[in-house]
Amino acid sequence: MTRIEVVQADITELAVDAIVNAANNSLMGGGGVDGAIHRAAGPDLLTECRTLQGCETGAAKTTAAYRLPSRHIIHTVGPVWQDGLANESALLASCYRECLSEAVVHQCRSIAFPAISCGVYGYPMDQACEVSVWTIQGFLAANADCGLEAIWLCAFSEDLYQCWQKALLESLGT
Ligand code: APR
Repeated sequence: MTRIEVVQADITELAVDAIVNAANNSLMGGGGVDGAIHRAAGPDLLTECRTLQGCETGAAKTTAAYRLPSRHIIHTVGPVWQDGLANESALLASCYRECLSEAVVHQCRSIAFPAISCGVYGYPMDQACEVSVWTIQGFLAANADCGLEAIWLCAFSEDLYQCWQKALLESLGT
């Protein structure tokens, strides 16, 4: 049974098998969690990212984690919020699903997600939290033997922590 938990932390400090990066299509780094991960991982991360030829929105690509305590970084590109008129919820769900698939391919037992698209990309936090927990649960239901033991939802603020915790508990029916 895979454990899903919300934690308030800096994702670059989590010693899990894989952390997810909320990147942009270029994979050349940026601000927010992307900037924090590149700063903490060191310059070799950018060198590897240059070999990946970017990443489509909703897709995911995996690199090593270099100076970070995790083994892998799974880079994904969330949708920019456009008032829900541009298929954003499906694209965000795809981010979570593709990252989980990448984690399984790389035999990860633990993975940590930031709140993809909830910063610069402007996705409303409450809606994004719901999409994430339902997508993760759907993936686990369809992939019972995926090998994932722990999925961390890594909130960078107290209000995001509360929002994610509420969405998770509602999805678990508790
Ligand atoms: N650890 C965990 N979460 C973090 C961290 C961190 N160190 N730093 C920021 N966050 C949180 C933000 O508070 C937000 O809740 O990650 C979430 C995603 O915000 P962004 O990093 O702005 O990502 P996103 O909204 O997906 O926008 C992506 O921003 O940084 C650029 O290159 C990136 O162009 C891309 C865009």
